[in-house]
Amino acid sequence: MKKTLLAGVKPTGRPHIGNYFGAMKQFVDLQNSGDYDCYLFIADYHALNLIQNKDEMKQLIKDLILDYLAIGLDPTKSVLFKQSDIPAHTELAWIFDTIVTMPYLMRAHAFKDAEAKNKEISVGTFNYPVLMAADILLYDTDVVPVGQDQKQHIEYARDIAEKFNHIFCSSVFGEATIGEALIGGGGGVFKLPEPYILENVAIVPGIDGKKMSKSYNNTIPLFATREELSKLVMSIVTDSGAGIPENVYAIHTLFKSESELKEFYQINSGKYKILKEALLEDIDAFIKPLRERRAELAKDESQLAEILHTGQEKANKVANAKLKQVKEAIGVI
Ligand code: ADP
Ligand code: TRP
Repeated sequence: MKKTLLAGVKPTGRPHIGNYFGAMKQFVDLQNSGDYDCYLFIADYHALNLIQNKDEMKQLIKDLILDYLAIGLDPTKSVLFKQSDIPAHTELAWIFDTIVTMPYLMRAHAFKDAEAKNKEISVGTFNYPVLMAADILLYDTDVVPVGQDQKQHIEYARDIAEKFNHIFCSSVFGEATIGEALIGGGGGVFKLPEPYILENVAIVPGIDGKKMSKSYNNTIPLFATREELSKLVMSIVTDSGAGIPENVYAIHTLFKSESELKEFYQINSGKYKILKEALLEDIDAFIKPLRERRAELAKDESQLAEILHTGQEKANKVANAKLKQVKEAIGVI
């Protein structure tokens, strides 16, 4: 029996090498392993917290599906779909809302960060982890490939699954056996998902040394042009004084093994320009085929709607079957 993999990305702008190495590359590698039924989606309802302009949203959704295809996601191997096409996601999120407490959601990192900055966040942002739990749990997901920053969200999904199973399924399985039944995968409506996080790429640093993120303006876009790459690599912050510039080296390890890099960095210790030029060549050699493939795919956008339509049909079947179990468990049908 294959395991189930599920992950989503928000259509909020150009993906960067942190998104790629931290999460998206794993989507492709695990898809191609043949060991997983893969569900990969565009988290447009999550993005709606940030993108509130119809033309921009439309464009960003198209962009992300092209990104998915360009990195090697294959609609004949994976179910590729849009979150908003599957009503069960928001419906299940509502059901979860009735068992999740406010203090519990107030402990989420993202909420605490917003609080610390005195931001007045929307209910959608506050509730973000609940919708994400619904995304994951509808598909009996085993693994969720993500970067480190999403780990807490997977824990929330696990907690919510356990709570739901406890409240609504314990009469079927009996209080004492529910834990065992779940661990064995034999009981409860929801399966407990696991994060899939690769240690060495869990937090890819940006050009300023902080975590690479669209919101910090420190990214190296995955499909960047050679000119953009050149500018960005040259602007990587170097801690002057150090022979081996930490940030340059850390980013370089994404493209070459440490054994290949060590000697080169030692020989060129302190020569930041030479080191950065070598990094530029290695990044560009890696990105060039991806960039070209994406440009090729972008020539024919007519296939995109069809891909999402097929994905929608497949995902809806699975999600609706799970939602039916949920509705039976809560007693509305
Ligand atoms: P961003 O912070 O740039 O907006 P997203 O929140 O859209 O990124 O993240 C998409 C995926 O990429 C998530 O799985 C996230 O954990 C992963 N990711 C984002 N930034 C990094 C990073 N710097 N290192 C590793 N993984 C990352
Ligand atoms: N929160 C994720 C991010 O910021 C996006 C996301 C939404 C997701 N739903 C998901 C990721 C379900 C994995 C599984 O990147």
